[in-house]
Amino acid sequence: MSRSRAELGRSEYRTAIGLVFYIRKVSSPLSIQPVSTRLTKERHIYKGSEVRLSRIQLNMEGALTARDRVGIQDFVLLDSYTSESAFLDNLRKRFRENLIYTYIGTLLVSVNPYKDLEIYTPKQMEIYMGVNFFELPPHLYALADNAYRTMLTEYNNHFILISGESGAGKTEASKKILQYYAVTCPCTEQLQTVRDRLLLSNPVLEAFGNAKTLRNDNSSRFGKYMDIQFDFKGAAVGGHILSYLLEKSRVVHQNHGERNFHIFYQLVEGGEEELLRWLGLERNCQHYSYLVQGECAKVSSINDKSNWRTVRKALSVIDFNENDIEHLFGIIASVLHLGNIQYDADNKGSAVIGNNAEVRWISKLLGVSVLVLQEALTHRKIETRAEEVLSPLNVDQAYYARDALAKAIYGRTFTWLVNKINESLANQDPSRKTVIGLLDIYGFEVFYINSFEQFCINYCNEKLQQLFIQLTLKSEQEEYELEGIEWEPVQYFNNKIICDLVEEKYRGIISVLDEECLRLGGATDLTFLEKLEETVGNHPHFVTHKLANQKTRKTLERGDFRLLHYAGEVTYCVIGFLDKNNDLLYRNIKEVMCKSRNLIVKQCFMPSELDSRKRPETVATQFKSSLVGLIKILTAKEPSYVRCLKPNDGKQAGRFDDVLVRHQVKYLGLMEHLRVRRAGFAYRRRYEIFLQRYKSLCPDTWPHWRGPPAEGVERLVKYIGYKPDEYKLGRTKIFIRYPRTLFATEDAFQICKNELATKIQAKYKGYRVKGEYHKQKQAAIKIEACFRGVLARRNRKKREWAVCTIKKFIKGFMYRNQPLCDENAKYLNFVRYNYLMRLREYLPKHVLDKTWLKPPAVMETTSEMLHKICYRTMVRRYVRGVSTQRKAQLQLKVVTSAIFKGKKEGYPQTVPKPFTDTRLSEQEINMKVLQMIRNERIKYGTPVVKYDRNGYKPRPRQLVLTQGAAYMVEEAKIKQRVEYATLKGVSVSSLSDGVFVIHVPCEENKQKGDVILQCDHVFETVTKLCVLANKQNSVKVVQGSMKFTIQPGKEGIIDFSTGQEPMVYKAKNGHLMVVAPRTKSTEQSSKLSLSVCTELLRKSQEALASGRTLREEFRLSQLEALVRMLVENEDEFVDVLHKDLHKVRTGEGTSLFDSHLSTA
Ligand SMILES: Nc1ncnc2c1ncn2[C@@H]1O[C@H](COP(=O)(O)OP(=O)(O)OP(=O)(O)O)[C@@H](O)[C@H]1O
Ligand SMILES: [Mg+2]
Repeated sequence: MSRSRAELGRSEYRTAIGLVFYIRKVSSPLSIQPVSTRLTKERHIYKGSEVRLSRIQLNMEGALTARDRVGIQDFVLLDSYTSESAFLDNLRKRFRENLIYTYIGTLLVSVNPYKDLEIYTPKQMEIYMGVNFFELPPHLYALADNAYRTMLTEYNNHFILISGESGAGKTEASKKILQYYAVTCPCTEQLQTVRDRLLLSNPVLEAFGNAKTLRNDNSSRFGKYMDIQFDFKGAAVGGHILSYLLEKSRVVHQNHGERNFHIFYQLVEGGEEELLRWLGLERNCQHYSYLVQGECAKVSSINDKSNWRTVRKALSVIDFNENDIEHLFGIIASVLHLGNIQYDADNKGSAVIGNNAEVRWISKLLGVSVLVLQEALTHRKIETRAEEVLSPLNVDQAYYARDALAKAIYGRTFTWLVNKINESLANQDPSRKTVIGLLDIYGFEVFYINSFEQFCINYCNEKLQQLFIQLTLKSEQEEYELEGIEWEPVQYFNNKIICDLVEEKYRGIISVLDEECLRLGGATDLTFLEKLEETVGNHPHFVTHKLANQKTRKTLERGDFRLLHYAGEVTYCVIGFLDKNNDLLYRNIKEVMCKSRNLIVKQCFMPSELDSRKRPETVATQFKSSLVGLIKILTAKEPSYVRCLKPNDGKQAGRFDDVLVRHQVKYLGLMEHLRVRRAGFAYRRRYEIFLQRYKSLCPDTWPHWRGPPAEGVERLVKYIGYKPDEYKLGRTKIFIRYPRTLFATEDAFQICKNELATKIQAKYKGYRVKGEYHKQKQAAIKIEACFRGVLARRNRKKREWAVCTIKKFIKGFMYRNQPLCDENAKYLNFVRYNYLMRLREYLPKHVLDKTWLKPPAVMETTSEMLHKICYRTMVRRYVRGVSTQRKAQLQLKVVTSAIFKGKKEGYPQTVPKPFTDTRLSEQEINMKVLQMIRNERIKYGTPVVKYDRNGYKPRPRQLVLTQGAAYMVEEAKIKQRVEYATLKGVSVSSLSDGVFVIHVPCEENKQKGDVILQCDHVFETVTKLCVLANKQNSVKVVQGSMKFTIQPGKEGIIDFSTGQEPMVYKAKNGHLMVVAPRTKSTEQSSKLSLSVCTELLRKSQEALASGRTLREEFRLSQLEALVRMLVENEDEFVDVLHKDLHKVRTGEGTSLFDSHLSTA
């Protein structure tokens, strides 16, 4: 059969227990992982637990250094492992140091210390939580934790078999394990109740089922198997208890030095006054005959009062209501009252109850009639075919009936109690759970007088020993053989022979006993003994006085038989065997109980029982069947073992009785177990299971191995680097010798599992996110569609509005010339607005700009007004911007214009050129001249060329104009002075030459004649001269030629013409010939500019006609700028052009250039 990790043995590797354990890997792919990493990892398995590595290491180191002193922690490491003395020495050494736990592989040997050791604290629990079994010193917690973790990882059921003789510490161990689970398992608020109930079921069951015996002050007088149910997260979620054969006889009889069940003493000692009064009890155990037979009602080691409080509290936690509690203690009190009933014999020898008070109390507490009860306790109903006859009982029979009733109601109440606890522990959730079973059964016991109960108890222990042998020694060795593993068999004592002696069908002791019980007439305990002698007399493990040899006979009474149990010889006294096995209760008593108003009694005695004619099964047979059931339950689970040893018989701390311990070591088969462990393999698994678990560690086997599993396992172990001595391959299983090998594999698997889990997680996350993404995408598409819908609707509305607006607009347009009405009001407003806005853009930029945006009909008046305002404003702004100097300049220019405009060539070019104040600085004029004319302010000076009047010889002169006269200056001489008042006039030609003649009166002697001068700035000079002389009207522009006075009465002529080069010379005809350069004549430039502009205008008109109004308007303005540049100086042309453009733009007429357009 397969084994769990809980069963793994440990070998030499643990010499260095405590050293950090490394997964061996030199050439294998198992990664090296120190224990610390594993611990950290495992820590997470347990909620809230924080196992500190440092603390563990401290412990481990402590364990190492203390090893010699405290012996070896695992017997497997014992050098002389076959020596019983070495085994005992080690055990003793450790016991002396209060180290009560030692391993044999994974089996835990525990020695009862009989004192409180500080090893069960929550701190200790924390240390052992989630730590590998071999990493810490041996402890019950390590074993419990190992079973728990294996259960969680392998998801299977477990049980912990706690065995040992009475007083060895089984019950204590089972309680400690339960506490460990209660503290360390994950727990929610809801589960806290389950946890408390599991814990508190113990004190209740112990109160009702434990008693002080000679061997143990808290001896379990019933067998208990408790399943703790765990959910997949490892939380304790429920429980179930099976109880086995309660020693009922203790209710009515206790040996000397023993007590009845604790609950009686607890009630009497601790019960509240009111309760006792209600129950009719007194606070004194000595008053109750059922409590004083052992003469030790008070025991120093037991505190009944405080235990009472614990039980009371536990009952309410386990869901007992006040009614239940009342009825329960009613029964307990009834039993005490029953025990106090005394019988007297009447004159016929029939039993009569001496004092009715007890019966009355019982009738009150059990809710039955006093008379009926009284009759039932003194009579027996005999059923014949025709009728039922009441036959009075004699005193002995009456006591028997009384005791039988007491045992029956107590026994059945105990069963009811277990069922009630089970109800409260039951988990209603149907999901699958795993369980850990705790088996704490009465231990093997030997008393001075041993009766039926001891027989049953010891038989039970034989069965469990048999199970242990089956699971560890026998089947293990058989398995090696079966699997073809080389093996040298280990001899051990197989107690099957004793089990058979007791339970064999037809031939076993139980069968013989039953037979005698069923036999009608004459069957007694002694006839039973005789039958035994007949049937099993020659069995090597059975002896009676009659069968024994001389020596043995001395130790046996005639009514005794002796069994040689695996744990030792026990002599049983047959007296009472038949009665106890029959467990008879008179029918009329049962009838009374069925009618009880005490609800518990009512549930315990069902009327159906009365109807049944079938003889109930005997106690021994029932017990046998229940043990068969128990073995079945256990074999279906993975076992862990705790073997409890009793160090001495005196319940003393610190005393190690070698003989006693040696005896226990022997009968518990510990030496054989050790030998098998040493020689055997720690772990085995079917190939399929092993492969299934660890296949992820090898690429060949992951994810699927298609070939035979054995080959797969071989491939796997080779790949992960098992050494040949570490494992063996059987027919169907792999055997691993050392736990370290398996642990290393397991650890590697844990790492691998995490990695795989991470991968799966990643995939799953990806899958989920993808799903989420798709969802979001769908949502986005939907939103988009909706939003597009919204936009489209909005657009449609806009379009509708636009259509409406356009319609209105068109209508408005059609009605534009009508008087203001609804149809055109808006349109006209729009037109007005639009016109004004456009006008804003096209306002004339300067005073000369005469353009004005053509107004729509409705705006004509307004436009006209605006135009005027705009013009006026521009003019005002312009005028305000003119400075005094500029004004003077302009005035001069006006004069120039009046004189020359349209008369003299070259004039337009001078228009934009401003006049200068003077062309001669004072420095350029000779000092003498300056002195001479210092009384007059010099207004203007310019270099000129003077032509002689006769020879026309050119002479450079300076013309200096003062306030009163014009001076002709040659160096330091004033050659001529012409007073303005006498100035007759000035003549210039119409050509572009710079010649001008100053006409002076000849009558004056001083004056020689007219002065012919030439200067570069003729317009400026002439203008200044005539303005200074105030002779604007005296300037003549002559065409062709002019006359001048040479001297009084003599005239000369100057002819003007144009030529390539400017020249002045005396012509042959004696005239002065002035040739003006043929510059860009007005005509030529006009023609050139005109053709360019015409072309541009044509294009503009085209653009206008094609409707691109605004753009073209813009271009037009650009063109205007261009034209202005082209004909910069020809302001007349500009003027004309402006007007023309204006006409084009406003559509008032056709262009001046139409003729050009048509020719172009
Ligand atoms: N680990 C322990 N530490 C301290 N004391 C212990 C321990 N185990 C047992 N004892 C002591 O030994 C007594 C007997 O132990 P326990 O009741 O567990 O024995 P048992 O094996 O259940 O006996 P039985 O078969 O009679 O029920 C306990 O009451 C307690 O005083
Ligand atoms: Mg016990």
